[in-house]
Amino acid sequence: MSMVKERRISIKTQEELEVMRRAGRMTAEVLRLLQTEAKPGVATRKLDEIAEEWIRSEGGEPAFKGYYGYPASICASVNEEVVHGIPGFRVLKEGDIVGIDVGVKLDGFCADAARTLAVGVIEAESRRLMEVTQEALAEGIRRAVEGNRLQDISWAVQSCVEGHGFSVVREYVGHGIGRELHEEPQVPNFGKPHTGPLLVAGMTLAIEPMVNMGTFQVEVLSDGWTVVTKDRRRSSHFEETVIVGTKEAEVITR
Ligand code: MF3
Ligand code: CO
Repeated sequence: MSMVKERRISIKTQEELEVMRRAGRMTAEVLRLLQTEAKPGVATRKLDEIAEEWIRSEGGEPAFKGYYGYPASICASVNEEVVHGIPGFRVLKEGDIVGIDVGVKLDGFCADAARTLAVGVIEAESRRLMEVTQEALAEGIRRAVEGNRLQDISWAVQSCVEGHGFSVVREYVGHGIGRELHEEPQVPNFGKPHTGPLLVAGMTLAIEPMVNMGTFQVEVLSDGWTVVTKDRRRSSHFEETVIVGTKEAEVITR
């Protein structure tokens, strides 16, 4: 027994992974549900209500609510908002992009995922920003296999994003996940290949590139949570929870 917080990267048992898969499926379900609700005229707090109600009705708990005092069950980050947008009275309008981030805790284990959604018809550059973010996430996920090192993931994400002329946020990162929403290790979206801890099958990671149209620099609004781009240009965020495998990663939030 120890008072010190666990610093190792935990390897989950098959039983634990089964619980995480169920939490992951629920997280994906919530995101699918919100995708159909995120239409022009809807306030982001409505999306939060729908998510919380659905998660609890399925016997889960919103993993974000109360986490370091966070007041809601989802994050809803519109346009220049990068992550951690608190749902509220902001009404979605045609042409917006909104990052929806959800965490579900089920039978003691968490899953965490995010998608950026188009509200109605959006401009081509926003569409490209979202596509590149998804592509970068896919490149990262491809590296989440035993024998690679953690920053192989980071480097894959960064080189994809920068190769398309966008920038990756440095101050916020992905993370290990399991009994806790945030576990070791941190999973940066930038880095050097062949560095960092060795990946082992059964590790569970939340990989989550935050990609900006302009500068990678961000700041936090006075609400203490909402992260926005310094230049107020748009940002996109996609996240999946994955199980590191021997041949390939298993995405459990799809
Ligand atoms: N996916 C985000 C993260 O891993 C969402 C966390 S919001 C918080 O940081 F409120 F729970 F912190
Ligand atoms: Co996360």
